[in-house]
Amino acid sequence: MLDPTLQPDHPLVAASILSADFGRMAEECRDVLDKGADLLHVDVMDGHFASNLTMSVDMIRALRRHLPDAFLDVHLMVEHPGDYVDEYAQAGANLFSFHLEACRPTGREVDGAQDAATLIERIHTAGMHAGMAINPPTPSDGLEPYLDRLDLVLVMSVHPGRSGQKFMPEVLDKTYRLRQRIGAQTRLEMDGGLNPTTAPRATAAGVDVLVTASALFGADDREAMIRQLHASAS
Ligand code: DX5
Ligand code: ZN
Repeated sequence: MLDPTLQPDHPLVAASILSADFGRMAEECRDVLDKGADLLHVDVMDGHFASNLTMSVDMIRALRRHLPDAFLDVHLMVEHPGDYVDEYAQAGANLFSFHLEACRPTGREVDGAQDAATLIERIHTAGMHAGMAINPPTPSDGLEPYLDRLDLVLVMSVHPGRSGQKFMPEVLDKTYRLRQRIGAQTRLEMDGGLNPTTAPRATAAGVDVLVTASALFGADDREAMIRQLHASAS
C-alpha cells in the first residue's frame, strides 16, 4: 500500500474515477492500476458545495471490496465534511480530503460550521491520512495554521463539479508558495485539467500528485498516458 507521507521520486498519478465507465467501475479501476496509476481519486459531491451529485460511501465500500490493495484518495466536495469521517474510514478510505471553504477557522464560531483542526484530528484518529483542499479563487493563507499536521494539500485547478474542464494556470503561484511552506512528509496534489501539456507546469510549481480523469480514462493508450505523466517531473 502506498505511503503518501514518503516523498516520491516521480510525480504520482491519481486516477480520478469520475471519467471511468460507471457500468464497469471495478474493471476500469483495475485497468488503470495495472497500467501504472499509483492511487484512485474518488470525487464525492453533495449537490450543494459543488453543483453535481456523485459518489457516496457505498462506492468506497465497493471499491475496497473489489480492490483490496488500492489506495483510495477521497476528495469530499461537500458541506459538513465532518459528518462523513467515520463512515468513510469504516468503508476503507485511505485519505480523506475536505475543503477549507467548508469549515470555519479554528478558534472562531461561524454559522455552526466545523473546525478544521478538530476535523484533521478526527480523520487521523479514524486511521486515515488527512488532506485539505482549496478552490481556484481561495488564497492559500487560510491553510497556514494546518500545514504541519496535513498529509496532503490539494489545490483545485478547475472549479469543482465536473471533469473535462480547462486548466487554470492562475493557481500556480499559490501552489508554488504552498510548496515552500510544507514539509517533505506532506504531498501537494493538483486536481483539474491535467494532461501531458499542463502537468509539467504543475510539477514545476512543486506538485507531486497529479489527479487526472478525462485525459487518462479517455486516452487511447492509458499506459503511455500514465508514463508521460510520471515523466512530467520538474
Ligand atoms: C472536479 C474533480 C476532479 C475531476 C478532474 O470537481 O475534483 O477530480 O474529476 O477531471 P479532469 O482531469 O478531467 O479535469
Ligand atoms: Zn477531485
